[in-house]
Formats: sequence, structure tokens, C-alpha cells
Amino acid sequence: MRRRCHHAAASVHSRSRQAIEASSVKKSKTTVRKAKAAITGVHGYLPPYVLTNAELAQMVDTSDQWIVERTGIKERRILKGKGLGTSHMGAQAVEGLLAKTKTAPHEVDLLICATTTPDFVFPSTANLICEMCGIRSIGSFDVQAACSGFVYALTIAAQFIETGKARKIVVVGADKMSAIIDYSDRATCVLFGDGAGAVLLEPNKKFGIMDTLICSDGSGMPHLHQKAGGSRMPPTAETVAKRLHYVHQEGAAVYKFAVARMAEVATELMKRNGLMSEDIDWLVPHQANRRIIEATAERMKLRPERVMVTIHKYGNTTAATIPLCLWDYENKLKAGDRMILAAFGGGFTWGGVYLTWAYDGEKQVANDG
Ligand code: ACO
Repeated sequence: MRRRCHHAAASVHSRSRQAIEASSVKKSKTTVRKAKAAITGVHGYLPPYVLTNAELAQMVDTSDQWIVERTGIKERRILKGKGLGTSHMGAQAVEGLLAKTKTAPHEVDLLICATTTPDFVFPSTANLICEMCGIRSIGSFDVQAACSGFVYALTIAAQFIETGKARKIVVVGADKMSAIIDYSDRATCVLFGDGAGAVLLEPNKKFGIMDTLICSDGSGMPHLHQKAGGSRMPPTAETVAKRLHYVHQEGAAVYKFAVARMAEVATELMKRNGLMSEDIDWLVPHQANRRIIEATAERMKLRPERVMVTIHKYGNTTAATIPLCLWDYENKLKAGDRMILAAFGGGFTWGGVYLTWAYDGEKQVANDG
């Protein structure tokens, strides 16, 4: 990685300020780059079933008013259908992306899928998506960084383009959160939804990814995790009976950390790239809670119309929120638009990307299909 997190986050429990400062900020020598990795297309998939706040209020003790006031979410999508996993949504997004960008499956050099809800422990969801889309014999793998997964995957993919190792990379963010959500737990079931988004990355001399920053702090685990199903606690009748295969989240602790880190990563990217708020055309924030998005925009001194928001329609789709935002706003985007992507998720993980958009979205959307 070119540069480290400027402000390695204070541990949730205990880590001295000194240790944090010692482990942070080491600017490496500037490297000469041949080409930037530019996003040259985006597509998404949202399952048709709409789960409204009203329906949730019939399932748990909650209300539309509480959910909207505390989170901004009005509805979210749920993938129904026997045997359909995250790969189904990812493949739909990738098929649309390839068609839209007139890319043949054999032209793709690498496919990375960010997901926290893989179809299987193995093979990877990326492998499954390749098979479904007729993409054969290329490198493909999953990245697991919870809600920061897409930012992590984009950061990895950019290196392959910048070094000339690949020319066309598909990066997918896909999650079927409904598979790991306890619909009797009102603290989590109102927040999440299912969906997938995918982007094509290609070399570009002018536009593309200018800077990236990925960070983590494993001491956040107690506040946000899925207890059972992994190697530490393999599934048994007891783990199922105790409902340990669902997301466990201590909302208030996660909220506090998320507000600080999202804003921090965005402002750090601005600072080290000499960007003032008026230089930023778009903030593309992970969609976990409208209040976290607003707090981040406030710290960046951005006007609300410069901030992509889809949370009211889709809720938190984990690794899919950022590509789905890009897809939703694509027809408003112009070549040269400067944007900052910022995410926060379980782990804890967080990160950001500063990029310049490579094409006029309106034209691409008009040619779509
Ligand atoms: N409906 C009604 N009441 C509720 C609900 C609900 N759905 N959920 C919780 N409550 C109640 C609580 O029981 C509590 O009641 P009490 O005061 O009687 O104990 C009260 O509302 C307040 O609960 P808090 O958890 O303090 O509510 P808060 O304002 O913090 O909002 C929320 C909760 C929305 C979860 C917020 O904390 C949040 O957004 N946290 C961050 C989520 C996030 O960013 N996750 C990261 C990404 S996820 C990933 O990586 C997989």
C-alpha cells in the first residue's frame, strides 16, 4: 500500500495514543504511474421484493417513524427464491455491466467480489459469478471487509491496472444480508437489505483512481460480528438454537466509531490531495445510516446535493452500497467529476478512494440496452 492510514483509529478498548501515532503515517516515495485505473462502467441488481417499514412493524416491535428518524431507511430489497445466493445477484450485475460496456466475457482479466455473505465458505463467490457469466480461466477471488469490502476490492484492483498486469477488471460488491439477519431482532433487521453492484476498471491516462486508503482495527470485533458458522464455532444444533448465525451488532458503539472514521478517512484523502470542499463534486458514502452520511458530509463541508444517498430505498446492502450509489447516480456524472468514496464496516474496517470519473454518465445510460 502506498500510504498508511493517517489516523490509525484508537482501539475500541485500549491502545495508547503513542502506539497509534508510532504506527501511523509513513509516506512512501511517490511512484511514477503509467496509467490510472478508471471506472468505465457500472451496473447493479436489486431483487424485486420490497420489504417496507410497515411490513417490518408487523414482524417486530418497531415503527416506520422510528426507523426513518434513526436511520433514514424507508424500504429495502430482499432476495427470495430457493437456492439463490449472493452470486445470483452479482452475476446479474456483471452480465448487465458486460452488455452495457460491450465487453466480451473473454476480455475480462480479473474478477474480484467483495462480500460478507458468500454462497459457500468455498468456492469463492467470485468463482461462481465467473462461471455464471461465461468468464473462464482468469484470476477471481473474494474480499471480506464487511461494509468496506468494495473500497478494499477497488484498492486491490487498481494495483493490477497501475502495474499493467491487467487491462479489464470487474469489481463486484454483493451481499445477501437477509441470509444472516435475525428477523426477530429489531435492532438489526430494520437496517439491512440485499443487492449487488459491479464496475469495470480499465487503464486511463487522464481519469481514474488518484488515491486510496484502507484501514482496520480488529478490536472492534465484539461490537459487530456473526458468532457461529466459522472455524471458531462451527455450526451445531446448539448454535442454531441459540441464534448465533445472525449478525450481532451493538448499534450505539458501532455508530460512534462509524461517524468518526468515515469523516476521518474522507477528510484525510482531501487533505493529502490538496482538495477543498468546493473541489469535490460527489461524496459516495457507505449507506449504513443517514445520520452517519450527514455527519461525514458536514465534516467535509459539502452541500447535501453533492452527496449520493440511496439508503431510503435500499437500506444497508453492505459491500453493494457504493457501486449501487454510482449506478443510481450514473446519469448525473460527468467526465472529470471528482469524488470521494468512503466506507466503514465490521472488523472494524474503514477506507476511502479519491477518483476522477471517466465518462459522461448520461451518454452511457442512454446507450444502455
Ligand atoms: N425500533 C424501535 N426501537 C428500537 C429499534 C427499532 N427497530 N431498535 C432499537 N430500538 C430501541 C432500543 O431498544 C433502545 O431502547 P431503550 O432506550 O429502551 O433501551 C432505543 O431504541 C435506542 O437504541 P440505540 O441502539 O441507542 O439507538 P440508536 O439511536 O443508536 O440507533 C442504530 C440504532 C440505528 C442501529 C444506530 O446505532 C446505527 O446506525 N449504528 C451504526 C450501524 C452501522 O454503521 N453499522 C456498520 C455497518 S454494518 C456492517 O459492516 C455489516
